[in-house]
Amino acid sequence: MARRPLVVGNWKMHGLQADLDQVAQIAAGQAALNGQAEVAVAPPFTLLMAAAQTAAPGLALAGQDCSAEAPGAHTGDIAAAMLADLGAAYVILGHSERRQDHGESDGLIRAKMQAAFDAGLRPILCVGESLEDREAGRQDQVVARQLEHSCPANWPAEPIIAYEPVWAIGTGRTAEAEDIAAMHAAIRDRFDEPVRILYGGSVKPQTVAPIAALSEVDGALVGGASLKAEDFLAIAQAFAQR
Ligand code: PGA
Repeated sequence: MARRPLVVGNWKMHGLQADLDQVAQIAAGQAALNGQAEVAVAPPFTLLMAAAQTAAPGLALAGQDCSAEAPGAHTGDIAAAMLADLGAAYVILGHSERRQDHGESDGLIRAKMQAAFDAGLRPILCVGESLEDREAGRQDQVVARQLEHSCPANWPAEPIIAYEPVWAIGTGRTAEAEDIAAMHAAIRDRFDEPVRILYGGSVKPQTVAPIAALSEVDGALVGGASLKAEDFLAIAQAFAQR
């Protein structure tokens, strides 16, 4: 059964107003995918509103994180309902940079997942092992534990998981195709329902071909290469044409 690939651009802490033209170019470039792949962009919170209103009507948008809390006295945080209010469809949760930089636990991530569901957002749950875990051969246990503790009991819609080996993020190193396929199969086995599993970690126009060729991979979560519309669209095209 073929699942429509989903390619998500995670801008991280990049992007000023001048970069909104990249969002507009991605929105315009979607047409060339002929509906064979879906794209979404996660600009920083500061650009989401402008992206939603002007640059990208018709382009799916994602938040890069959300609070586990309902709207209230939480200085500096963004509620899931606020993302939904401006038309975001998705929210990235549990990214390894949030886990590392902000000490996010699986329990907190699960609470954020619930907040996202309550607001009608579709979370993209990130999991992945560190280099130390991979070298010790513990990657399967690490990812299984992350899934066990951060997944809710029930997903109101098709679950979306992003497998991102931490050592492949922003390093130019991508995992071997057979390791990606094996991990995606192991993740899929943990779910009773159909699940979309994206790969992330230095996906670039030059590295995407062997990844997009894997039937176990349902799309990509793209960091650095999503900042340039041309590169991001080339990655989406690789999935659309497979
Ligand atoms: P990268 O980031 O493509 O720059 O490695 C991926 C991610 O962190 O989602």
